[in-house]
Amino acid sequence: METGAAALTAHSDDARSLTMPLAGNPFAPGSLVIVDDGVHRQVALVESRDDERGIARGRLIGTIVGSALDTRASHPFGEAAVTAVDLESIDQLHAATGAALEVGGDLMPPGHPARLLPHRFNRHTFWCGQSGSGKTYALGVVLEQVIAHTALPVVIFDPNSDFVRLGELNPDASGPSADALRERDIRVLRPNTAGAKPLRARFLDMPIMSKAAVLELDPVADREEFNALLHLRELFEVTEVASILPTLRGSDEPAHQRLALRLENLGLLGWEVWAGRDRAATEVIDERPDATVLDLGGFSTPEQQLVVALSVLDELWARREDRRPLLLVIDEAHNLCSPQLESPVAVAVRERLIQIAAEGRKFGLWLLLSTQRPSKVHPGIISQCDNLALMKMTSPIDLEGLATYFGYAPTALIARSPWFRQGEALFAGGFVPAPTLVKVNARLTPEGGVDVGVPMR
Ligand SMILES: Nc1ncnc2c1ncn2[C@@H]1O[C@H](COP(=O)(O)OP(=O)(O)OP(=O)(O)O)[C@@H](O)[C@H]1O
Ligand SMILES: [Mg+2]
Repeated sequence: METGAAALTAHSDDARSLTMPLAGNPFAPGSLVIVDDGVHRQVALVESRDDERGIARGRLIGTIVGSALDTRASHPFGEAAVTAVDLESIDQLHAATGAALEVGGDLMPPGHPARLLPHRFNRHTFWCGQSGSGKTYALGVVLEQVIAHTALPVVIFDPNSDFVRLGELNPDASGPSADALRERDIRVLRPNTAGAKPLRARFLDMPIMSKAAVLELDPVADREEFNALLHLRELFEVTEVASILPTLRGSDEPAHQRLALRLENLGLLGWEVWAGRDRAATEVIDERPDATVLDLGGFSTPEQQLVVALSVLDELWARREDRRPLLLVIDEAHNLCSPQLESPVAVAVRERLIQIAAEGRKFGLWLLLSTQRPSKVHPGIISQCDNLALMKMTSPIDLEGLATYFGYAPTALIARSPWFRQGEALFAGGFVPAPTLVKVNARLTPEGGVDVGVPMR
């Protein structure tokens, strides 16, 4: 009688990893499977297929005990039957790990919902993919879930005005997430948009070193002016930029005169970024709205977006001991933390981000950085990221770099990135129950700066 193909079996010596033959093995890397040796039923992830040696490898994720999954227990076995995962086991995995934020569908069978662990946004997250891969869209999907279902306040540094409509809902949006979003306090700060709350920085509140950076003062090359600034520290803490000029001009000190010239020549007085009577972004964020969108794109000069970013990061860092959790989302992160940035304000922003990447975690300052190329973000920041979202990326050099930074992401899954379609991503690291290939859900809120279409006749 025909008995069909021999059942697929796996083997594990160490209760962590497992191997199984490739022959008769339909499971691609990224698949969850059940391994059952008659004593324990365990959930495992297939991570790689080695054609040369004819084996597939994977890792054990947890043991099914009754109706629950225990992710702390895994067991070695000489021979265990391998079968496809069932929906119930996936639900158990999500329940056991607290994966509650539904962000898309798993690309692997059985095509179940993909969920992230909200409590693991207490780590830094790196998000990358080439232009058009759908980073900003997918980031929006994830942020909607974070904002709807957690009490973690979010600040979004938005250089392309992509998130300025985050406080609205698409007409067809419905369900619990949409209902929750409707209730959230989402504030959008914009540089020059009539009717919008203004995006401003308060010069006098900035630390002295940041003021020096704004004035492009080097402590050695510009030692006299820098020193004058130090001595005028108190004046600069109570007087806005616009009112400081007459005082400097009225002074007999040559260094004060030179500072006045510098203020004028840099055009600082004409910048719209200064708060004056408006509220500064720092003052809005201090109230911890559920989400604050900083629309950095619309300033008349590029330095001003850096000044706002610096003022916000400085303030959060100065008050880090308050330990008030905040997720800092930086789209197009290379604008703020590329190793190639050289202007004094840009360097100050980058240094502050490196500091937050290294030490912010314990103070509740968590970063989510999105960029097109990993090489455009300072390595001191990438190496601190415990969560990875990878979208389509075709550059082999960039992919190789990622594999070295993110050892927790299986190489075989990273290698699939060039074939991702728009909206497809690999999630790996602590914020996902196991490395997962995902097609992200549709947005609930409208996108801001959508691509401009070609006009047709
Ligand atoms: N999952 C998706 N479903 C529907 N449309 C999408 C999806 N992802 C992206 N798009 C659309 O594709 C376009 C590009 O997406 P997006 O702006 O997210 O790419 P990006 O990776 O952020 O690119 P860039 O690096 O240039 O900012 C947008 O117009 C967006 O509406
Ligand atoms: Mg984008």
